[in-house]
Amino acid sequence: MKIKLHHPWFVTALAALGLLIGTSAAADEDFSTLVRRLQGEKPAFAERHQKLLAERYDLADRPAKDVTMARGKPVQAGVRVKLPEGTTWDKLAAMSPDIIKSKELWPTGFYPLPHPHHEAGGMVFPQPLIDETKKQTARDLTRFDLDFDLPQHLLPEFPAPIYLTTRPDLGDVSQGQLVTVANFFSLFKDILNPKQLEGLRLLVTPFPQQQFNATDDRRSLHPSLGVGCFDCHANGHTVAATHTVGDIRPDEHRHRIDTPSLRGVNIQRLFGSQRALKSVEDFTEFEQRAAYFDGDITTAAKKGINPLERGSQVHFMAEFQALLDFPPAPKLNVFGKLDDTKASEAEIRGQTLFFGKAQCATCHPPPYYTDNNMHNLRVERFFAEKMINGRKASADGPIKTFPLRGIKDSPPYLHDDRLLTLEDTVEFFNLVLETHLTEEEKTDLVAFLRAL
Ligand code: HEC
Ligand code: HEC
Repeated sequence: MKIKLHHPWFVTALAALGLLIGTSAAADEDFSTLVRRLQGEKPAFAERHQKLLAERYDLADRPAKDVTMARGKPVQAGVRVKLPEGTTWDKLAAMSPDIIKSKELWPTGFYPLPHPHHEAGGMVFPQPLIDETKKQTARDLTRFDLDFDLPQHLLPEFPAPIYLTTRPDLGDVSQGQLVTVANFFSLFKDILNPKQLEGLRLLVTPFPQQQFNATDDRRSLHPSLGVGCFDCHANGHTVAATHTVGDIRPDEHRHRIDTPSLRGVNIQRLFGSQRALKSVEDFTEFEQRAAYFDGDITTAAKKGINPLERGSQVHFMAEFQALLDFPPAPKLNVFGKLDDTKASEAEIRGQTLFFGKAQCATCHPPPYYTDNNMHNLRVERFFAEKMINGRKASADGPIKTFPLRGIKDSPPYLHDDRLLTLEDTVEFFNLVLETHLTEEEKTDLVAFLRAL
């Protein structure tokens, strides 16, 4: 009999099987059996996830005119979240959250987005990062059990430019290269002090992690030295590498999390979408002690935890991170608002809306467009709890208000990557905040966001 992989029962059966003989039984399974089993399951889960993405989004490569990221990658245009049949954005905006919920009209793309294979979880890297890391350092970040899910044109620029707060005169100091152990010294020896250089060395040095280590329950074919901070926060920005958050149990409630940019951490006061750690130093320690091991301190010991020394390592790493500046925004003045002589009329109208009818500035005040606070958007007002490919879509709780400076350079949006373009974020907030913006007002607001 020929088994058709897209049959839902087959996927459900696989998922159940995966749960039954997942990590808990891994001790009885040798490495080659584990690889064969997970590789066998991989296509069905990948298909399940791609089907979900196609239901939720228009994933086409449709660049916006006249706007690029800092080194020239096109910014993607248009609302990508699909509307439920028979409705329009205006019709939705005219309904109360209760009505949207009872009629099940919340757009599927506005629900929490699951990890590419939610039950498996763990760190996943986009292909260009995997290829360049392998080329420069011979370290392979490929997982044998799953691949990254979103197309490259919807991701940040790679490699991203690097701007230093201490040397704005230099502009981008990356020289178009991905910074790794192979080139960090030659790229930075003349513009950093030895302490900052040592911090950068540690940020590009791999250390053991749940899926990338030497034990037989790893997810890389070859025993691995692990991952470096800048594998995800590539060039101090982000490649949109994703992960499941370590802080929540059971697994179905764990959020998918997008790697945030480290640009501008110097002006931020809370770190992590929900962790809300109070310093870059704390988050730097927390990453390797807990986040690398899904919040499980017992497996960390087995796989090779790397406790960083606070005075001579954590501080140096944090010092380098604090040098990472936002990209230039030539249309903004010293207050972080539009310079009237440089901005277009649409941008100026968008700014007025941002500070007025659209309510954005309440939580995103200038100059960096964050209030350094957590807010609970209570998106669960609009939908009933349900399972989506292994992820329980329910209340998210309070989330960090990410800064909007340089925002066009860091798609996808929200803590779990659920929104693909700035147009999507405007439709999302228009419903969540119940602000009733017109079509023209939405276009103007996007024009303003692109100028930040
Ligand atoms: C899987 C790739 C990955 C690796 C490797 C990684 N991070 Fe992160 N980092 C993330 C994600 C995802 C978050 C968001 C966490 C959350 O929302 O709770 C994050 C958050 C942060 C934050 C807080 C940013 C903010 O805007 O709140 C800092 C600082 C940080 N990481 C530093 C580091 C350092 C230092 C290392 C190395 C020790 C490191 N990261 C390794 C993915 C990664
Ligand atoms: C009540 C506070 C609040 C208001 C008002 C608000 N935001 Fe936000 N904003 C947030 C929070 C909290 C997040 C993070 C949510 C998440 O990740 O789930 C966020 C995230 C974003 C992001 C994505 C950031 C990223 O790095 O992924 C964009 C873009 C954004 N907001 C734009 C807007 C716009 C435009 C408006 C006005 C129409 C607006 N916000 C109004 C609190 C607010």
